[in-house]
Amino acid sequence: MSKRKAAALILAAGKGTRMKSDRPKVLHPLAGRPMIGHVLDTVAALSPSHALVVVGPGMEEVARSVTPMPCVVQPRQLGTADAVKTGLASLGAFAGDVLILYADTPLLTAETLERMLAERAGPQAPAIVVLGFRPGGGEYGRLITGPGGVLEAIVEHRDATPEQRAIPLCNSGVMVVDGAKLPELLAKVGNKNAKGEYYLTDIVGIARGAGLRCAYIEAGAEELLGINSRAELAQAESALQARLRRLAMEDGATLTDPASVFFSFDTKLGRDVTVGPNVMFGPGVTVEDGAEIRAFSHLDHAHVGRRAVIGPFARLRPGAEIGTDAHVGNFVEIKNSTLGQSAKANHLSYIGDAHIGPRANIGAGTITCNYDGYEKATTEIGAGAFIGSNTALVAPIRVGEGAIVGAGSVITRDVEPNALAVARAEQTNRPGWAAEFRAWKESAKRGAASVLAKTKAKVKAQGRKKG
Ligand code: UD1
Ligand code: CA
Repeated sequence: MSKRKAAALILAAGKGTRMKSDRPKVLHPLAGRPMIGHVLDTVAALSPSHALVVVGPGMEEVARSVTPMPCVVQPRQLGTADAVKTGLASLGAFAGDVLILYADTPLLTAETLERMLAERAGPQAPAIVVLGFRPGGGEYGRLITGPGGVLEAIVEHRDATPEQRAIPLCNSGVMVVDGAKLPELLAKVGNKNAKGEYYLTDIVGIARGAGLRCAYIEAGAEELLGINSRAELAQAESALQARLRRLAMEDGATLTDPASVFFSFDTKLGRDVTVGPNVMFGPGVTVEDGAEIRAFSHLDHAHVGRRAVIGPFARLRPGAEIGTDAHVGNFVEIKNSTLGQSAKANHLSYIGDAHIGPRANIGAGTITCNYDGYEKATTEIGAGAFIGSNTALVAPIRVGEGAIVGAGSVITRDVEPNALAVARAEQTNRPGWAAEFRAWKESAKRGAASVLAKTKAKVKAQGRKKG
């Protein structure tokens, strides 16, 4: 962070009509959180002395999502220059650096902002530093540059000549402006242009006209994608996923097929974690050192202990707490439950609202019946207990330490430690019954066949007579 005071204005008042959505554009999620959340994080990393978000009327949902950051309402969406004016009015007289960011450009990093602030604080002290990039086309404003790294003007795509549109260097929208000069520059911005809007980008030409120096720096295109449509949202998601995969590997995780793993902004993987193909991490997941997440698993608000093995095809829902060395196998769903150290639930189970002790073994097809249509109830399974396959545990229920539950049981009463519980109809065996049954069925079939043959012969004979 530079030593000078800086204020950040985040513009989010635009209607986002190109998204064709009922949801405000900046609340569309990227890597599991609203795009504006990414911008707030980047700004927070700089710890500016002031920061605020400019929203439009009726955007209470956006305002809620950014609390405790203050919001100001731009009454009419007259353009980006007007939005900045609205923000400045609520800042009061501010002579430090004003950072202007767009909430629809969420992949920007704090390092790039630091570089911009450093340029502004540098020996040439430009009044405006603009962040440029080379996206390889698109409807971005174009930077008109002069010799010596001077920025002369920004021309909006709609207002640009074909020659200007061919300029590869584009405006990302991010700017740092001398707060002492900004109000007078904004005052001179007009709206005689293709959109009839007050363009913030015009302040560069205005500053040049007043003899002020303007500069630009560049950053990578994957950091500066502006999101105006669903297609651009998808592009940004994919750029962000690429970044998150790279960071996970840099931190010591193995991704067998990185392109098929999806992360959330806050996924935490320890050292030597292995993630197989087609794994999806929703928000709030932490995986400790040495754990393995096998193919096609889906995790959301879950914690996986050291060396635990999850999947393939496992689902960890919110509140799943998987102990050290525990195993969760295929088609097992775990919600709001703890699985103790070295416990195993390896096949086809639903575990909800349960506490499962260390070393317990949950047999294939075990279901905790945690919901009666009105309320949730809990299941407690003691250390080292063994739950036989296809058991229904009707909660609230407690199975004591070391107890064994026979396969196929429906357990409705607590089981004391080290007991055997079996709750299913008693088996009866009838010696010879199956053989008798078959003999009876086969003779009946032969009888029926001979009756049928006789009937057919009769019908045929009658037919010949008629003919
Ligand atoms: C803007 C830039 C363009 C740049 C591009 C980068 C202008 C005039 N143009 O174009 O040079 O290449 O971003 O992505 O600045 N907003 C308000 N109030 C308004 C209008 C917009 O708060 O009255 C906000 C929007 O919510 C958005 C941001 O400002 O977050 C940019 O507005 P948008 O309409 O998306 O500008 P672009 O056409 O993308
Ligand atoms: Ca935009």
